[in-house]
Amino acid sequence: MIIAGNFKANHTFATCEAYLAEFASYIDESNADDIYIFPPFTALQAPLDKRIRIGAQNGYPAEKGSYTGEICLEQLSALGIDTILIGHSERRHIIKETQEFIARKFEFFKRNNFTIFYCVGEPIEVRQKGLESVLRYIDDQLENIDLEYPNLIVAYEPVWAIGTGISASLDDIEETHKALREKIAAPLLYGGSVNAANAEGIFASPFVDGVLVGNFSLKADEFSKLLKLSTVRG
Ligand code: PGA
Repeated sequence: MIIAGNFKANHTFATCEAYLAEFASYIDESNADDIYIFPPFTALQAPLDKRIRIGAQNGYPAEKGSYTGEICLEQLSALGIDTILIGHSERRHIIKETQEFIARKFEFFKRNNFTIFYCVGEPIEVRQKGLESVLRYIDDQLENIDLEYPNLIVAYEPVWAIGTGISASLDDIEETHKALREKIAAPLLYGGSVNAANAEGIFASPFVDGVLVGNFSLKADEFSKLLKLSTVRG
């Protein structure tokens, strides 16, 4: 399983440093195949334990330059970062990133061999219309995205399940992942209110290759429970 924690705009450099030290102490008991943490930019740092991979939550598709408030390839590479989240629903909906811009970002970081966590997922009004509508919605989010890219990991994160405490049901997750599996060979993660109580069922599903976790990843001792619950996918 791939276990990934997205801190969003939480944690400082100091609290992240303490987190990474504590989290490393749990890794010996981990059954996860790969572990990723996405701290905010100001907390990007090399982890004590090389089994934890650090990724960026965002990046501007340029080497460097006049992009006020953004962070580019030069800054990420200097920190040894080669993993990035692209297409997260908070960037699509709050920051208003368009599919065209997201695809441009994807191409840029693909050209630079980044491991790309690419997020897709529908809002509640689309889910209420049923699976076909969900798949059409996700199809639009896959426009101009190279699904054959070898360093791709896809995260299915229904918008209505993110940060709400209401995870999608296992049936919804499996039904959606099964359909996505027909066109996506890359590992398929689920994200949206994953915690220690619902993770076991999710890990047991043959359609799920891992989880992308927000709120529940913020405390190292809590998040580490997922490492133990995880199953080895190989
Ligand atoms: P959540 O966030 O676990 O807090 O629902 C998931 C995500 O946004 O990746």
